[in-house]
Amino acid sequence: MNIQPLLSRRMRGLKPSPIRKLNPIMRMPGMISLGGGYPNVKTFVFESLDVVFKSGARFTIRDQSMDLACQYGPTDFHADLKPLILRWHIGKDGVDLKADQVQILNGAQEGLHMMAYLFANEEDSVVVSEPTYPGALGAFRAFTENFISVPLDDQGMMTAELEKILRKRQAAGERMPKFIYEVPNGHNPAGVSLVPDRRRHLLEIAARYRIMILEDDPYQLIRLEEGRDPAPTLQSMDRENLVVRLDSFSKIFAPGLRLGYVSGPADVIGCFQLYKQGANIHTSAMDQSLLTGFLANHTQEAFRAMIRENCRIYRRNRDAVLEAARKHLPADIRYHIPQEGMFLWFEMPEGFDADRMVEQDGVKLGVLLVPGSGFSTTGGLKNFMRASFSMIDPEQIEEGLIRFAGMIKRERERISH
Ligand SMILES: Cc1ncc(COP(=O)(O)O)c(C=O)c1O
Repeated sequence: MNIQPLLSRRMRGLKPSPIRKLNPIMRMPGMISLGGGYPNVKTFVFESLDVVFKSGARFTIRDQSMDLACQYGPTDFHADLKPLILRWHIGKDGVDLKADQVQILNGAQEGLHMMAYLFANEEDSVVVSEPTYPGALGAFRAFTENFISVPLDDQGMMTAELEKILRKRQAAGERMPKFIYEVPNGHNPAGVSLVPDRRRHLLEIAARYRIMILEDDPYQLIRLEEGRDPAPTLQSMDRENLVVRLDSFSKIFAPGLRLGYVSGPADVIGCFQLYKQGANIHTSAMDQSLLTGFLANHTQEAFRAMIRENCRIYRRNRDAVLEAARKHLPADIRYHIPQEGMFLWFEMPEGFDADRMVEQDGVKLGVLLVPGSGFSTTGGLKNFMRASFSMIDPEQIEEGLIRFAGMIKRERERISH
């Protein structure tokens, strides 16, 4: 797809850094560079760093690898990391990316911001599910406030609804949205996954109306049912170069390191790279070195096995929260059983006000959930609450749900008075 007409006005003005362009030449063996204004590596304070992983594997960053970890580096990737990521991606998703189709990010969150920067003018719109991840809404809102919200059910975004909305818009001669934002697995906050038929339908719709898809997939490997593989990614099913995909290492490696990557058509990735040059030059080389050391010292099978093992914690917590919900919550509180991710999304009866419940009873009863309105583009979803079961111990879960039941009782009393 030709992305030129889709780019935002602000993007059209971006020019590559005249110094960054010289970076590969500067690194050629034998080159005497009086070019880049990098500090001298001899001045850096680090001597060596011994890294020991919980798996028992260890490695040391020292000498040249320490120089690289401390020095300015390439914008696209720490050199040794890129081949490891390309291999990780093909092993995980079966998609064979070329070297110019990936860009490291400071977490997937940076990709959300960048996508809107690159494509959304103030008058443009973006398709999101209702509810949607507030971090995405926050990132997009810096550029546009126009959202086309599509409801979701227990099979993910209701693509038939999206199709109706777009058909009407086109018939009315209205501007078509720039991209469709989708969290296909373990949706935050709804906990649902987009079923394969809807994945196909979403791609079909995007192709028909020439709209890009932003596939944000941080919960792909946070699987709560043993032996169930994730459905094929939208990117792997895309034949039209419409999908820009965000992968995150936050839920499977360490969120504090802020590591993720964007992949997709080379011309789109080139735009991400161009913007990143101006935004933060590159993602921390030290953090990338840590991921490099990890991936170089663990086979994919070993890494996947570690992730599966860690998912037992989430599965145990999910089961505890479901059991407590069955035991303690009234029958008119509805929820879907999540098979991926970290969230349970409670729907309470019409008229319930989750913001008021948290405000008036949260501290008093000693329980915290996130009110639904923060996940809505319009401040709706007032009778919804998100519970996260990722961090809490199973022993605390039952007490937490007993307190949540108390909150529900108080709200019911308030409404009936
Ligand atoms: C749906 C979704 N996208 C993106 C992010 C941000 O991920 P990262 O830590 O990689 O920036 C989160 C974090 O919770 C998330 O839930």
